[in-house]
Amino acid sequence: MADRTVLPLRLIRAGLRAASRVGAGVADRVARTGVATHPAVVDPQAAATARRPVMIRFGDREVAVERGRTLLEAAREHDVDLRSYCGGNCSCGTCRVEIVARPEGLSRRQSMEEFALGMDAARRGDRLACQAEVLGPVEVRVPDWF
Ligand code: FES
Repeated sequence: MADRTVLPLRLIRAGLRAASRVGAGVADRVARTGVATHPAVVDPQAAATARRPVMIRFGDREVAVERGRTLLEAAREHDVDLRSYCGGNCSCGTCRVEIVARPEGLSRRQSMEEFALGMDAARRGDRLACQAEVLGPVEVRVPDWF
């Protein structure tokens, strides 16, 4: 009898976890692109805005990038000198940048990024360029490490 009540609860929990993962994926995609992907809810004006390039200022250089790219990808595309010893795997911290203005132009920081940044840098609002996705205009400073 006890097995009959435990099994449905496990299924319900598994279902809730799966639904939560799907919901988080959709929310991230909408935040990144500004577009809901279901054809019934696509707004043509929002879709056009999402396709427009976003301006990033790296120090004294301003570059245009596709929305949803990471700061590291943007730096590589435009020959900005930004180190990335782990290749963008969120483990070395060498791609750390300081956010000078408009931090809202980047995706939210995730727990792995905070861990790799360390408490002081995270508290200052620094970001790892390999993890921060560009959602809108932003101004960053690349520290001179060497
Ligand atoms: S490139 Fe290593 S943490 Fe970003």
